[in-house]
Amino acid sequence: MDSTSRWRAERTADGSFTLVSPEHGEACHSLAGAWTQAGERYARPCRLRERALAGERRLALLDIGTGLGLNLAAALVELEGTDATLDVLSLEREPEVVRAALALPLGDGELARAVTPVRKGLAAALAAGGGTFALGAGRVRLVFGDARRTLAAEREPPSFDAVFLDPFSPKVAPELWEREFLALVAERMGPRSVLSTYSSAVLVRATLLAVGLSVGLGPRVGAKSSGTLAGRGFELPPFDPRTARRLVRKAFPGANPAPGAESVGPFS
Ligand SMILES: C[S@@+](CC[C@H](N)C(=O)[O-])C[C@H]1O[C@@H](n2cnc3c(N)ncnc32)[C@H](O)[C@@H]1O
Repeated sequence: MDSTSRWRAERTADGSFTLVSPEHGEACHSLAGAWTQAGERYARPCRLRERALAGERRLALLDIGTGLGLNLAAALVELEGTDATLDVLSLEREPEVVRAALALPLGDGELARAVTPVRKGLAAALAAGGGTFALGAGRVRLVFGDARRTLAAEREPPSFDAVFLDPFSPKVAPELWEREFLALVAERMGPRSVLSTYSSAVLVRATLLAVGLSVGLGPRVGAKSSGTLAGRGFELPPFDPRTARRLVRKAFPGANPAPGAESVGPFS
């Protein structure tokens, strides 16, 4: 392991490692299982496999907070045995976290098999200060810098099919949960797209709704509460009616949501 890194390695309950930020002490993953979280929280609920099996050949993914690259690896696993390839824009502020990730132990199971090609690409991109690398038959463009600026500066932004919204918590890193940034993300999501995040905060859900997305319940992972899904063109797992009405009121002050609103669609 890289003993000079300021990012501290921590083993999680499924045996995979996460990294803890030197800035605020928050871990990059749930301690219930970093690798488990990558699959169950991000890759699966964004419906990549379902779409690939339905015949979509190229899926565009926005990966916010590259970190250890575990979410990227889990996305690749989802597409195994299909003809689909991934076209990813991956955004990371800190080259140092990627450097530290490359030195973590991987073992020799599914995690190693899935993460090894991602690491190879991350290492090359890191050496070049960012850039595009192959991932399976697809590709990842890794851009270092503040995700807000990177995304706003994209000249021909693709229309994303899936978004992994995986920054640190709103408490320590509010900038990637602000309305302005989430609006930028929503504008770049296609007519059939799903965003997944671990946050279950009312404010985050209401903001995703206010920027024009439908919102629904994300899966529970380990002991963590349900996260949040947001998107267009898919039915999302519904909230209970009381929560749904609360979200609509928060997103659109003065709105009078219909009783029984469940998976909450965009209102105007
Ligand atoms: C929770 S970790 C992401 C874990 C990662 N998705 C994975 O699969 O391993 C959050 C990441 O967001 C990055 N980050 C924090 N603020 C950022 C910003 N403003 N722009 C881009 N990346 C940021 C952090 O450096 C960190 O690597």
